[in-house]
Amino acid sequence: MHLSTNFRILSLLVPIACVHATLYERAADLPAKTYDFVIVGAGAGGSVLANRLSANPATSVLLIEAGPTNIGVLDSIVPMLTQGLGPGSPWDWNFTTTPMEGLGGRSIPYPRGHLLGGSTSTNTMAFTRGSFEEWDNYAKLSGDSGWSWDNMHEYFFRNEKWTAPNDNHNTTGQYLPSAHSTTGMVSVSLPGFAHPFDNAVIATTQEFPDDFPFNLDQNSGRPLGLGWPQQTIGGPARSSGATSYLAPQFLNRSNLHVLTNTMVTKLVQTGTDKGKPAFRSVQYTQSRTGPTTTVTAKNEVILAAGAIGTPHLLLLSGIGPKEQLSAHGIKTVLNNPAVGANLTDHPLVSNMWYVNSNATWDVLGQNATEFGPNTPHYELLFSNGFLSTVDTMPSTGSFMTIVTCLTAPSSRGNITLNTTNIFDQPIINPNMLATDFDVQAMVTAINATRKVVTAKAWDGYIIREFGDFASATDEASLVNYVHTKATTIYHPIGGAVMSPKGASYGVVDPDGVVKGLSGLRIIDGSILPLIPSAHPQAFVYAVGERGADLVKKAYKC
Ligand SMILES: Cc1cc2nc3c(=O)[nH]c(=O)nc-3n(C[C@H](O)[C@H](O)[C@H](O)COP(=O)(O)OP(=O)(O)OC[C@H]3O[C@@H](n4cnc5c(N)ncnc54)[C@H](O)[C@@H]3O)c2cc1C
Ligand SMILES: *[C@@H]1O[C@H](CO)[C@@H](O)[C@H](O)[C@H]1NC(C)=O
Ligand SMILES: *[C@@H]1O[C@H](CO)[C@@H](O)[C@H](O)[C@H]1NC(C)=O
Ligand SMILES: *[C@@H]1O[C@H](CO)[C@@H](O)[C@H](O)[C@H]1NC(C)=O
Ligand SMILES: *[C@@H]1O[C@H](CO)[C@@H](O)[C@H](O)[C@H]1NC(C)=O
Ligand SMILES: *[C@@H]1O[C@H](CO)[C@@H](O)[C@H](O)[C@H]1NC(C)=O
Ligand SMILES: *[C@@H]1O[C@H](CO)[C@@H](O)[C@H](O)[C@H]1NC(C)=O
Ligand SMILES: *[C@@H]1O[C@H](CO)[C@@H](O)[C@H](O)[C@H]1NC(C)=O
Ligand SMILES: *[C@@H]1O[C@H](CO)[C@@H](O)[C@H](O)[C@H]1NC(C)=O
Ligand SMILES: *[C@@H]1O[C@H](CO)[C@@H](O)[C@H](O)[C@H]1NC(C)=O
Repeated sequence: MHLSTNFRILSLLVPIACVHATLYERAADLPAKTYDFVIVGAGAGGSVLANRLSANPATSVLLIEAGPTNIGVLDSIVPMLTQGLGPGSPWDWNFTTTPMEGLGGRSIPYPRGHLLGGSTSTNTMAFTRGSFEEWDNYAKLSGDSGWSWDNMHEYFFRNEKWTAPNDNHNTTGQYLPSAHSTTGMVSVSLPGFAHPFDNAVIATTQEFPDDFPFNLDQNSGRPLGLGWPQQTIGGPARSSGATSYLAPQFLNRSNLHVLTNTMVTKLVQTGTDKGKPAFRSVQYTQSRTGPTTTVTAKNEVILAAGAIGTPHLLLLSGIGPKEQLSAHGIKTVLNNPAVGANLTDHPLVSNMWYVNSNATWDVLGQNATEFGPNTPHYELLFSNGFLSTVDTMPSTGSFMTIVTCLTAPSSRGNITLNTTNIFDQPIINPNMLATDFDVQAMVTAINATRKVVTAKAWDGYIIREFGDFASATDEASLVNYVHTKATTIYHPIGGAVMSPKGASYGVVDPDGVVKGLSGLRIIDGSILPLIPSAHPQAFVYAVGERGADLVKKAYKC
């Protein structure tokens, strides 16, 4: 902690050298009132859009971000300092959820990145594309074959820049080269340091090949099995939407203006197009009590404020369930009950063992489910050392943690308004572990961790189970353990989901255009029709890449 505090002081010196003419920290300095495109939010979705649309010097783009610049934020640069970016840090939104029944009535902190790069500047950098079945399912659910695995290939490749690991070790046999692109934007690499733990995990795949098969590359479209993790790290540093798509050589484009420290407070109706309300203006301010200013898009406003920010802004702008909006005195422009509905997240449980060693290492494991033979239902994340936000680390002892994460949950939550002020958080109800099915799946995953450590390779390493895990041994105590210990892995998705053109449900068409409106499109994690059975950032980047293509086609720009 001391280390990161010191570095934050140092970071104040850095931006001066790095400020470019087009990065504005003060709203009053913004030189224009009209742009071809206005993008709200600079996360995984918004950073891609800003880069791709401004590649044509004739297209003017404004990107508005609530948080500050990422430049010089050392906790965001150094992968080991990720903890310094969480709740209560200057780089977080400090959200809290409602009490959840599935979590034994607990509310939990709900971190989201609040700086350029959004949550890609604060996340834990796991990079997973999911299974081909998931994308083919998106194509089916949206009625647009453009979202299929085969079609998305070129967008995965535009996004990814495969990079040698930091220790430059020989990576033969640790990944499938043909599944990767070396010419994209976001650096992706294998772990940059080795540990004896590696051998135990690999040996487990050899001893239990049916339960835990070795998978050469989980990003090949077939993620099942245990494989080497891939992360958005280039050399020693995090690679984010901000360090890649918004790198200095792009920020210096004179047709791209980036306005930081600025909250978009409302989407503003600008008239009517062919009978549809048009929303081509946004209102913004730099503080709760500051003046608001309006900026207008000639073509479109593109909303990329993420799974919490996007539904929140839609609701405040009169786009959502009429009954809820009326209760807050907001005039309904478009009555749509799907706004804020179907928010979905991945719950996790941290299962700890006392062990005979203590160095650092992570690997990823997955297993098949009833939902599709190639798509995982849960994930095991190995961590040497005590890794929990629910239990407190004892002052002595060495630990190993296997985090069990439910990646295909059936529970659905929602986002609703609490007040009419964007500076007050909405009511966030991820409603995790609300179904028996989800609880049973989590118990199955926990049982699997116990099987892992029976492999011979762990002999002499594992001492005993830690804390309440040790006494969760039968059905009832395991279920209670899940409810008591579960929390989030920070993957909220949904809230403004896509559905086929002409469908009577959903919020956006398969091209991201908001149903029933003109001039407003959404390109971020809120539109995925189903939560990825994987870590979502690669999904949102790919949605951004295809979204940019669709916009460029629509406006021939
Ligand atoms: C702690 C944590 C760990 C995670 N770990 C992983 C991981 O290891 N692997 C993985 O794949 N995914 C991970 N994720 C999830 C992943 O980062 C997100 O799914 C992804 O970034 C979503 O992209 P997005 O564009 O939808 O939203 P975001 O990246 O969150 O971007 C939204 C942006 O909009 C801005 N914004 C919101 N409202 C407004 C407003 N009113 N005005 C102006 N700006 C606004 C926000 O400040 C933010 O910059 C993690 C997330 C967190 C928080
Ligand atoms: C979150 O809390 C920290 C600590 O109080 C603060 O510095 C930061 O500005 C808060 N984030 C937001 C978006 O207000
Ligand atoms: C890397 O390892 C593989 C097999 O383990 C070997 O064939 C190859 O020659 C090695 N490459 C280098 C550059 O050492
Ligand atoms: C922006 O930076 C790149 C790389 O440094 C340079 O090639 C380009 O000429 C610069 N463009 C402008 C408009 O300054
Ligand atoms: C939530 O999603 C389900 C499944 O797609 C859908 O049937 C339902 O209508 C959605 N709920 C709302 C309120 O949109
Ligand atoms: C493990 O931790 C103990 C103290 O908890 C320490 O003495 C020992 O050096 C550590 N071992 C390694 C390999 O880091
Ligand atoms: C939100 O979800 C909860 C269940 O978790 C439900 O009781 C509530 O009615 C939902 N709210 C809306 C507006 O759909
Ligand atoms: C909703 O607002 C009230 C007061 O305006 C506040 O007391 C309460 O904590 C808020 N709820 C949430 C979930 O933020
Ligand atoms: C998990 O293991 C316990 C103890 O062996 C067993 O009672 C329970 O049925 C198992 N549950 C599942 C879902 O596998
Ligand atoms: C993995 O899935 C297979 C097939 O569904 C099942 O037989 C096996 O028991 C599972 N393994 C674990 C560890 O859950």
